[in-house]
Amino acid sequence: MSLHSLINKIIPFLPKKTSQEINKIIQNVLSNKTEKMSLIVVLKQIDDIIVPYKKKHNANRQNWICGQIVKYFELHKISIPQSFVDIGGGNGNVLHFFAQKYFLPKDDCICIEKKRDTLEKSEFQYEYSHIERIKYVFLTEKDDFEELVDIDKKVDCILCMVSLHHMTDEYILNTVFPLIRSKLKAGGYLLFKEHNANSSDVVKLIEWEHHLYYLVEQSGQRSLNELENYANTSIGNYKDREFNKRWIEKNVECQCIETLNNIFERGSLDETPTQLYWQIFRKK
Ligand SMILES: C[S@@+](CC[C@H](N)C(=O)[O-])C[C@H]1O[C@@H](n2cnc3c(N)ncnc32)[C@H](O)[C@@H]1O
Repeated sequence: MSLHSLINKIIPFLPKKTSQEINKIIQNVLSNKTEKMSLIVVLKQIDDIIVPYKKKHNANRQNWICGQIVKYFELHKISIPQSFVDIGGGNGNVLHFFAQKYFLPKDDCICIEKKRDTLEKSEFQYEYSHIERIKYVFLTEKDDFEELVDIDKKVDCILCMVSLHHMTDEYILNTVFPLIRSKLKAGGYLLFKEHNANSSDVVKLIEWEHHLYYLVEQSGQRSLNELENYANTSIGNYKDREFNKRWIEKNVECQCIETLNNIFERGSLDETPTQLYWQIFRKK
């Protein structure tokens, strides 16, 4: 049932029969019935089926969750942050929302992304289309982030939304945590969004969510080369909620003040197949 709803969420225009066909392919992989088939072959098979149902993404699709964040801040009488760093911010759509709504200077809206070392297509392909309103900073594993982000400047809010699990422990400990520790003002907020990967079944669903998003993201067919590159380079470093909370509190001098569900509201947690949640941390 969870897999079924995941498929329909990611590829909403699939006819029922096609959705069932994909469900069956994935179920077979999950139950090891297709042991000999490599992931690349299965992804190619699914990609060929879904080509007619790939739709262009709506560039404003993250505005709704931004509205939820604003609503939370207003309800709890917390000043809306006026300066941000978004770690693994992708195209920077969330930062762009705040930059536009609150007329924030470009230098106060910093989107940190991974530098691409090769021209080969990577898992995430963004246009970085908000260059006029936000600042993009590209890091490699080796870069010293202090050289790239203005040392003296601290921000009101750091965002880290479903990006931590794409990074190695080493990078998190050597780059991400020191960055949060040094760039977040005392009393500032870390808005953290992750999966609660608390069982192997949930991890499998999270992995398939990523595979399907990767396939639908690009119109037309994915080539075998692209799929091979994806299968060989993507990182899935999943942790459960309690681990992440303790890890962040220990390394970032922050305290978790609230745990919210996938839509940034109080209430039942872990109701979506891949158990997305938000946590709000406050810097000491
Ligand atoms: C699932 S996307 C999330 C994008 C955005 N935060 C959002 O919520 O839409 C994960 C992002 O993490 C970025 N990322 C992965 N590894 C990274 C690294 N080592 N340093 C910085 N960003 C990284 C990817 O490029 C990608 O933009």
